[in-house]
Amino acid sequence: MKEHVPVMVNEVLEALMPWEKVNVTVDATLGLGGHSGFILKNCPEAYLIGFDQDPYAREIAEENLKGFSGRFEIEADNFRHIEKLKERPGWKGASSVLFDLGVSNMQITESERGFSFQEDGPLDMRMDAAEHTNSELTAKEILDSWSIKEITDIFRKYGEEQYAYQIARGIVRNREAGRILKTTGDLVELIRTILPAPVQRKMGGHPARKVFQALRIAVNDEMNALEEALDGALKILVPGGKILVISYHSLEDRIVKTKFRKWQEEYLGKAKPRKALIPSEIEIERNHKSRSAKLRIFESETEISRKGEKYDVLHRMPT
Ligand SMILES: C[S@@+](CC[C@H](N)C(=O)[O-])C[C@H]1O[C@@H](n2cnc3c(N)ncnc32)[C@H](O)[C@@H]1O
Repeated sequence: MKEHVPVMVNEVLEALMPWEKVNVTVDATLGLGGHSGFILKNCPEAYLIGFDQDPYAREIAEENLKGFSGRFEIEADNFRHIEKLKERPGWKGASSVLFDLGVSNMQITESERGFSFQEDGPLDMRMDAAEHTNSELTAKEILDSWSIKEITDIFRKYGEEQYAYQIARGIVRNREAGRILKTTGDLVELIRTILPAPVQRKMGGHPARKVFQALRIAVNDEMNALEEALDGALKILVPGGKILVISYHSLEDRIVKTKFRKWQEEYLGKAKPRKALIPSEIEIERNHKSRSAKLRIFESETEISRKGEKYDVLHRMPT
């Protein structure tokens, strides 16, 4: 059984209390079904709809959750389309929506997906793998055809890579010299030749880590998908429902924090607690990958009135 150790499970479950009241619940990032399994186990009335754009993840989740048959279903879709749930006949809203962003261990360790800078694989990085429903853009296409400026921009914006320009220039020069990058290993090797050894030592961590993160975010249009998904999630919640987001880097967390603040200013609900929760020391010790996690929770308002107008909480339209 393939596994992904779910992060901050206790905090997620606590936020969902009282468990008897959890009914329709959405796991926007089903992965291998780790969080979903805990939710189904603890919330006796829960019916779970799990989204994942990765066919391999869905297959494994289906297997991992088979003990809960009849209480869950899997949506093969990008979570940016979460609002489509409203179109279901008889849809009454979800009591919670969970996002556990990023990639699963399985995606990282399967080198043929091209997410790992530690193993050799194709320069692909599309999360929807074989289906390619989102886009045809791959990491290879970016490296083979984008300009120095375009590549620098994504390395800076999505990787917060200090040496973005130097690496981008090295990539384009390499290309202009007729050398072709075929695999993730080729890219790692090139980055190692572009950056002087003292710089690599100063970087702390793998010299290709931020570049790989940036390429993955760009290929999957992750930041725009998250923005759209958060807006959609708010629209499918029941009044008093909760959105829970676990993020692993500052860019994602900033989007979530800014969105929650904006909603609060619009009287659409409250971030509860106000600050992000982080994993306990014990969890970090047991699961090192949890160390960068931040959990933010937003509870939607039960009755919304703004500027004297009554709002229909499900559709966010003046009634
Ligand atoms: C960190 S893993 C989730 C792990 C899961 N919580 C568990 O405990 O097994 C993130 C998952 O979200 C999926 N994912 C990421 N972005 C997505 C998107 N825009 N739409 C749908 N699924 C997405 C990935 O394919 C991956 O399987």
